[in-house]
Amino acid sequence: MSAKIIKDGVYAVGAVDWNERHFHGHTYMTRRGVTYNSYLIIDEKITLIDTVRKSFEKELLENIRSILDPSKIDTIIINHIEPDHSGAFLEVLKACPNAKVYGTGKARDGLLKYYGVSGDWIAVKSGQSLKIGKRTLEFIDVPMIHWPDSMFTYCAYDKILFSNDGFGQHYATNKLFDDEVNFDVLMEEAQKYYANILWPFNMLVASELAAISKLNLAVDFIAPSHGLVWRKYISDIMEKYLYWSAHKYKKRIAVVYETMWNSTEKMARKIVEGITSEGVEAILFDVTKNDRTDIVSYMMDAKGWVFGSSTHDGWMLPVIAEFLHFLKGSKAIGRKSFAFGSYGWSGEAVKDIEDTISNITTFDPFFRVVFNPTEEELNKCFELGKSFALKIKNEE
Ligand code: FEO
Repeated sequence: MSAKIIKDGVYAVGAVDWNERHFHGHTYMTRRGVTYNSYLIIDEKITLIDTVRKSFEKELLENIRSILDPSKIDTIIINHIEPDHSGAFLEVLKACPNAKVYGTGKARDGLLKYYGVSGDWIAVKSGQSLKIGKRTLEFIDVPMIHWPDSMFTYCAYDKILFSNDGFGQHYATNKLFDDEVNFDVLMEEAQKYYANILWPFNMLVASELAAISKLNLAVDFIAPSHGLVWRKYISDIMEKYLYWSAHKYKKRIAVVYETMWNSTEKMARKIVEGITSEGVEAILFDVTKNDRTDIVSYMMDAKGWVFGSSTHDGWMLPVIAEFLHFLKGSKAIGRKSFAFGSYGWSGEAVKDIEDTISNITTFDPFFRVVFNPTEEELNKCFELGKSFALKIKNEE
């Protein structure tokens, strides 16, 4: 990506990682790639906000050089230290020998642990600000959006909120603004991002959004460190963040299963038929054929969760086990579930499912069948789906 202008004196100078498909280790399948956004403000004090992943440090410095010599940078703001934003920190420090570095105390401690240096650091917190010329930058602590060190930086002059991981999307593109891409794709990626990055921290996100709203900031742009800059759809994304962080969800149902010899799959299909016969939306996810990133995104916005697995060696099957292990970190509340599956002689999978995620959902009695479901047992699956749909539809 080359440098792009957001407003007079404010540039996006980050990088596009078109082919990244496994972000955060293998926790997040980034089907549309990733961007690492960094911003340069030209004022009396030249200011860089956030860096990029280490593998893109040359691109960041080239983008800065297309505007000015990086040695002229006076101020580096580190909103968050995760290596997708701080990986280029050492190279940036070398290129900007006179810069003072601003961030939270936790960010400084983290950088010291990661890289052994933190530069000429000035610790800041909510309520503090930095005058860089005609602009003043205000700092807002937002712990757990996404790590304890995280903060936002607000520029009232340009009405830009630099939100780092907040309001991000993993969406590689050469476009800069939200209204330059397809709205539905943008919101799909924003939801997936929230579900896979911020959902576990809902309580803090909700209280921090409430605190920010009391500041009555005028915001024309939200500039996150991943994905597109919001300018047209700011109220849409704010509304979504308030909705997701309040643990709200639709009256719809995800049916997630893994099958060995298709018996559990036959049950799953009948359960979905039963659910949809009541006019309730359901999606059937074979967990071995879908990205868990997409499944989790749908589930964040679904009240009903149904899980199926064949029993194998006394446990549920391994891919759904891995999925549930990931899901239980969501700290979801208010969901309803039941488990089902086929087995040969012992049938532990359904109980294994319940035990694994009883911290985030409540279970109706399970249903399991020996080997292959009979016609009668498939009818029972249909009825279970139907009654579960009624429960989801009618319960507040
Ligand atoms: Fe995009 Fe928490 O780093």
